[in-house]
Amino acid sequence: MARGMKGPAPARIYNEDCIQGMRSRLGENLVSVIVTSPPYNIGKGYRSYDDSKQPGAFLEWMDQVAAACHRVLEPKGSFFLNLGNKPSDPWWPLQVAARFRDGGFVLQNTIVWVKSIAISREEVGNHPGLVGDIAVGHYKPVNSRRYVNGLSEYVFHFTKGGDVELDKLGVGVPYQDKSNVSRWKAGGPDLRDRGNVWFIPYDTIRESRPHPCVFPVKLPEMAIRLHGVSKTKLVLDPFLGTGSTALACDRLRVDFVGFEIDPEYVRLSEESLRAQRETAAEYRSAHPETKYIPWDRLPRDVRGSCRESTATLD
Ligand SMILES: C[S@@+](CC[C@H](N)C(=O)[O-])C[C@H]1O[C@@H](n2cnc3c(N)ncnc32)[C@H](O)[C@@H]1O
Repeated sequence: MARGMKGPAPARIYNEDCIQGMRSRLGENLVSVIVTSPPYNIGKGYRSYDDSKQPGAFLEWMDQVAAACHRVLEPKGSFFLNLGNKPSDPWWPLQVAARFRDGGFVLQNTIVWVKSIAISREEVGNHPGLVGDIAVGHYKPVNSRRYVNGLSEYVFHFTKGGDVELDKLGVGVPYQDKSNVSRWKAGGPDLRDRGNVWFIPYDTIRESRPHPCVFPVKLPEMAIRLHGVSKTKLVLDPFLGTGSTALACDRLRVDFVGFEIDPEYVRLSEESLRAQRETAAEYRSAHPETKYIPWDRLPRDVRGSCRESTATLD
């Protein structure tokens, strides 16, 4: 259950196949939020998993994943499915997402996760915070004359009935024009709906990357916040990788269960969790009133990596 200010929430991480794990370890309608990014079938170099199945076999496997996730999700739960864009096959993520629709899920929202963006001052106009043109965030450039660089990925928000109420201000953004606050809600918070475009850059890292495609910890954190932390009893990531969703849950103090077939990725997840907990405990003893640890006080996310292919596509 959600922990508020109590001790660290339990994280159960199993080194096993997610479909078997969900069947044997999780009951029906048990999970409040699923956040995950499955392998994408684009030939990524995972340690154990072969990311180059026949497309038909891959989609049939996704049908089984969809059925297993549907069984364990609460009737009013949220399922955030992150799928990258493949420049040479732009229909692929939509084809994969359609299998989850066929498996009984309703697409309630489509969020675009932006990893990098260029903003020209000329377009924005006279904005006090913007002194010139900016280009922020990281991505791997695509080596192609046909395809532009992929700077975004999908996060499909599935629910069972399309009618799940969200905590939109849980990921809200402050009003730019403060007069809007009183206009919209007398005395309400200085926050508005963020909308469906989330800019979440990767950390810059120099170390070699232990996993070919992780998402930043902030992505699952924002997904859980959008669903609503206070009503989140248990979060699941069936394809845990190196532990982003477990780290987000630890930070939000909600219970977590995850599956990952590679033992080294499991070890890295547990190591990152331990490091985060040590830093958090030090911070909390110095700031006992703290509910959430500021991001800049947590260990840096050294696992960040981009999903785009660098292969020549032309
Ligand atoms: C795209 S990665 C997930 C990365 C993760 N979101 C992160 O931030 O670290 C997909 C992961 O699924 C794992 N995997 C592949 N088949 C699996 C299976 N049948 N059960 C559980 N995990 C599996 C792969 O080893 C890989 O680490």
